[in-house]
Amino acid sequence: MRTQPTLASAPAQPTVALIGAGAVGLVVASALARAGWKVLVCGARIPFARIHVTEGGQVTDHPVTHATSPAELGACALVVVAVKAHQTADVAGWIAAFNRPGARILVAQNGLEQCARLATHAPVAAGVPAIVYFNAERSAPGCSVLRRIGPTDLCLPASPCVQDVVLALQNGGLRVATAADMTTVVWTKLLANSAANPLTALSGRHTGVLREQAFAASARQIMAEVVRVGQAEGAALTMEHVEEAIAWLQAVPPDSATSMLQDRQAGRVLEYDAITGGIVRAAERHGLDVPLNRLVLALLSAIRPAQG
Ligand SMILES: NC(=O)c1ccc[n+]([C@@H]2O[C@H](COP(=O)([O-])OP(=O)(O)OC[C@H]3O[C@@H](n4cnc5c(N)ncnc54)[C@H](OP(=O)(O)O)[C@@H]3O)[C@@H](O)[C@H]2O)c1
Repeated sequence: MRTQPTLASAPAQPTVALIGAGAVGLVVASALARAGWKVLVCGARIPFARIHVTEGGQVTDHPVTHATSPAELGACALVVVAVKAHQTADVAGWIAAFNRPGARILVAQNGLEQCARLATHAPVAAGVPAIVYFNAERSAPGCSVLRRIGPTDLCLPASPCVQDVVLALQNGGLRVATAADMTTVVWTKLLANSAANPLTALSGRHTGVLREQAFAASARQIMAEVVRVGQAEGAALTMEHVEEAIAWLQAVPPDSATSMLQDRQAGRVLEYDAITGGIVRAAERHGLDVPLNRLVLALLSAIRPAQG
C-alpha cells in the first residue's frame, strides 16, 4: 500500500452521487466537495442543506443537492455507496440507475463481497472497493464527526480508472493510499473486525474486553481461522497480522464501542453477514472448516433487532 502525493485539483466541477449519507458517506462526500466537486445526495430519508464534518472541534461545511427519485439523476462522475452492507438491497433502485458502461461506483463498506453485492444491482458499472480506516459517527442528518486512526484514512485500488478520485479525495484532506493487491487490504482490515465486532456485540462489552485473557484467546482463534481462509482467497496474510491486530485492538481506548456493539445497543440490525457470513462462505468455497466463525455467525444471526 502506498500513499500518493497530493496534486492540484482538476478545474472541472464533477458531481458525486452519494447513496447512504451516514457517518462514512458524509466524510467521503465532504472531502470531494472540499476538492471542488458537487454533491448530490440520493434518497436521504431526512434531507439536509449542507454537509457538516467535525474533526477535533473544527467544522467544515459544504452545500448539497438532493435527488428524491432516480428519474431526477443527471450525469455523475462517481457514485459512492455507503449504506451498511445489509442495507444495499434497500437502495437497489438507486444503484441500478447508475448501471451503465463507464459508471464508477465506489463501495465504502466493511467486510467482504463489496463488489459482488453491487454487481447484483449494477452488473455493467465498475465497482470500486474503498477500505475505510477512519472512525466516524453521524451526529445529525448531514453531520458527521470524524476521528482519524493511524496514518491512512482510505485505501482504493491502484487503478488509472480512479486516479482522479484519489487525487480529489487527497485534495479534500483525506489521506488516501492505493494498493495493487486489494484482496490483501480487504482481508487485513477484516481481521480485526472479524473478532472485535462479534465479541463486543455478543458480550455487550466495550473494546476493553479484548484485554481480558479469555477474550484475547478467542479473538486469536477467530482470526487464525480468518488467516487460513484469506490465504486461500489469495491474501498475503500471516499469523503476524493476527498479533498486530490483537496489539492494535488492545491499544484502542478500552471504553470504545465497535459499530456492531453500538448497533446492538440501539436495537438495530447487525452488519454481520458481510463480515462473519462472508468468511464462512469463503471457507466453504475452499473446503475449510471455521468452527469458531460458524458459531459466531449462528449466535449473531439469532439476535433479533428491536428496529427493522
Ligand atoms: N462509521 C465508521 O467509523 C466506519 C468505519 C469503517 C467502516 N465503516 C463501514 O462503512 C459502512 C457505512 O457505515 P456508517 O457507519 O457510515 O453507517 P451509517 O452511519 O449507518 O450510514 C448509513 C447511511 O445509509 C442510509 N440508508 C440506509 N438505508 C437507506 C435507504 N433505504 N435509503 C436511503 N438511505 C439509507 C442511512 O440513513 P438513515 O440514517 O436514515 O438510516 C445512513 O445515513 C459500513 O459498512 C461500516 O461497517 C464504518
